[in-house]
Amino acid sequence: MMSQSCPIKQAVLLVGGLGTRLRPLTYRMPKALLPLLNRPLISYELELLGRAGIEDVTLALAYQAEALQQALGDGSPWGITLRYCEEPSPLDTAGAIGNVREHLKGDFLALNGDLVLDLDVGALVRAHLEAEADVTILLRKVDDITPFGLIQRDDSGVIVAFKEKVAEDETGQNTVNAGLYVMSPRVLEAIPPGEPYSNEHQLFPRLLAEGARLLGYLPERQGYWADVGRAETYLATNRALLDGAIEWAQPAVESPVSPYLVQQPICVGANCNITGQLGPYTTIGHNCQVEKAATLQDCVVMDDVHVGSGALVRSAIVAPGAHVPPGAQITDGVFDSND
Ligand code: GTP
Repeated sequence: MMSQSCPIKQAVLLVGGLGTRLRPLTYRMPKALLPLLNRPLISYELELLGRAGIEDVTLALAYQAEALQQALGDGSPWGITLRYCEEPSPLDTAGAIGNVREHLKGDFLALNGDLVLDLDVGALVRAHLEAEADVTILLRKVDDITPFGLIQRDDSGVIVAFKEKVAEDETGQNTVNAGLYVMSPRVLEAIPPGEPYSNEHQLFPRLLAEGARLLGYLPERQGYWADVGRAETYLATNRALLDGAIEWAQPAVESPVSPYLVQQPICVGANCNITGQLGPYTTIGHNCQVEKAATLQDCVVMDDVHVGSGALVRSAIVAPGAHVPPGAQITDGVFDSND
């Protein structure tokens, strides 16, 4: 990632979604706090923004505000100032931005709060300012566009169409919304106050129809990008981070492990007692116990978990505080013995 300073200083992070696809985990904690390499998911965006020179970040939330505030504090670890704004009821992605308009001065960044990505934020913002765009949407190229809304641009990068539910892009661009925007304060006027309103389905198509200037930004070098929406993408992001996808987020092993019982890459929290086999692609939280002859592969085991002897945890997520019984076979989804 390049570290050129960003010409704008403010960002809004959208962290008010219910995270329904990651239940039951998101009954216990907001999606933004799910651990990846034992850091909260949202900290990857906070670090990216802090490194880019963003100073003022507003978290737009709708529930579990206390847990987020307790975990993230004032933002000083990332060199930013954090502000928490809770919606009376969820206002959807554009409504949430409109709800914090009083804190926004000049152009600002807005991000879905469930992304792990590597991006030259300054270059994106400079492209937005040079184009005098109303909104700049970060794009990414995909092989299969069917699950996404397609975004088509002209040769200068200006967006000419949003297309939902198409199987093929006749232009061959295959570019979709990556969930990160730069916005001019002009667009705040198009967001109706106090009611649910969506960026993707309402605000952006409406702005395009009204002749606003929407830029689609596709970085020259596509860095790592993931959105953590489902158990499968959560585990895939864990694997990518263990492989070093984000340069500044390297896995640590903070408790003693026997090299004979480990296949790298792994990440282990502090104060763990491990006598079972670990890895490859295993992240274990703090204060965990893994008994003899247990096997953990391609999984995320959260804090305070006990894995009994002979148990197998593979391609699965274990909720904080869970007890995996001796000999159990957990081979997909989320395991939570506290239900
Ligand atoms: P699912 O329920 O599993 O679809 O997850 P989600 O609630 O996170 O929804 P989705 O992935 O579509 O949301 C994209 C981003 O927008 C996430 O970071 C959400 O936290 C955020 N978001 C969605 N709805 C709202 C809302 O009503 N208010 C705020 N503040 N953020 C929202």
